[in-house]
Amino acid sequence: MAMKKILVAGIFVSAFLLLLQCEEAHAAEFVVGDDQGWGPQTNVSRWLEGKSFKAGDVLIFRYTCPYCSFVTVISDYYYRLCDAYSGLKKFYNSGNDRVILDYGDNFFVPSYHEYCEKLKFKVFAN
Ligand SMILES: *[C@@H]1O[C@H](CO)[C@@H](O)[C@H](O)[C@H]1NC(C)=O
Repeated sequence: MAMKKILVAGIFVSAFLLLLQCEEAHAAEFVVGDDQGWGPQTNVSRWLEGKSFKAGDVLIFRYTCPYCSFVTVISDYYYRLCDAYSGLKKFYNSGNDRVILDYGDNFFVPSYHEYCEKLKFKVFAN
């Protein structure tokens, strides 16, 4: 009898968790820099103010500037060094790039080194 109760409780908990997951499936999309897009004209720290992100959300990078390609890097170490090569996770250069945020820290580094200190940024996704 106790076994049956546990089983029923288990089914309810699973259904509840499934509902929660559906809730979270609504990923938000953010255009980096809004109308200004992504590039040296953009104050990324200002753009980031007040925003929060969830895993699965999408950052959209729009740019026409030829030097505005960027990469994601695997860790804070390469992020701090502005090393777009050794810690490379993925390279983006289409000018309309969509990056799906992973859970935890996500590191964005311009591939053009001159822009790195000004433009690199990281976001934490819950
Ligand atoms: C970018 O925005 C931040 C936060 O609003 C501000 O503190 C900083 O001075 C701005 N930088 C430039 C270069 O405008």
